[in-house]
Amino acid sequence: MKIVFASHNPNKIKEIKLLLPPSIELLSLADIGCTQDIAETADTIEGNAQIKATYIKDHYGFDCFADDTGLEVDALDGAPGVYSARYAGPQKIDAENIQKLLRKLAGNSHRSAQFKTVIALSNYKGTHLFTGICKGIILKEPKGKDGFGYDPIFQPIGYPQSFAEMPTSLKNQISHRKKALEKLIVYLQAQKK
Ligand code: IMP
Repeated sequence: MKIVFASHNPNKIKEIKLLLPPSIELLSLADIGCTQDIAETADTIEGNAQIKATYIKDHYGFDCFADDTGLEVDALDGAPGVYSARYAGPQKIDAENIQKLLRKLAGNSHRSAQFKTVIALSNYKGTHLFTGICKGIILKEPKGKDGFGYDPIFQPIGYPQSFAEMPTSLKNQISHRKKALEKLIVYLQAQKK
């Protein structure tokens, strides 16, 4: 079975290839000759994942999945959510996003949050959504040097360190992205039977 992953991020493509069973051939956007950036214009995480997956299915004919992730902070009514990458502005700078979030939560002891990844799969049956959640708290200051995005200020429940202090292998076992991907894989394996 051939399936496209609608991402230009080579690290994500590599990570997902390793997790998929050998019977599923993963194609990148480059493999199908798609070089454009598909605009993420929806106002929900689900909507953006869906836009990317259906665009490829409609324009290139391949079954396709796409992901979108956001950090949802309870005390901020779910912000930054779908706007996580550009929370502090269109320049999408991680350190600025973190500083803005810490300012918004200054003096607030209610610090629960969750990362949410939605994978949308577009195939001949329509569009299917697979959601992965990782719950945690927003730290008062950045800790650790690994990872990306909001990793230095996010501490998952049940662990004493931030995502940025963890080995990547541990983060990848418990992450929102991994949980969504596992659900997608279960679905794809059932399709083959
Ligand atoms: P994307 O949909 O994977 O591109 O994620 C959108 C934004 O959410 C990123 O630019 C990051 O700011 C943030 N983000 C997504 N996944 C993670 C993560 O695993 N750790 C920290 N931040 C993340």
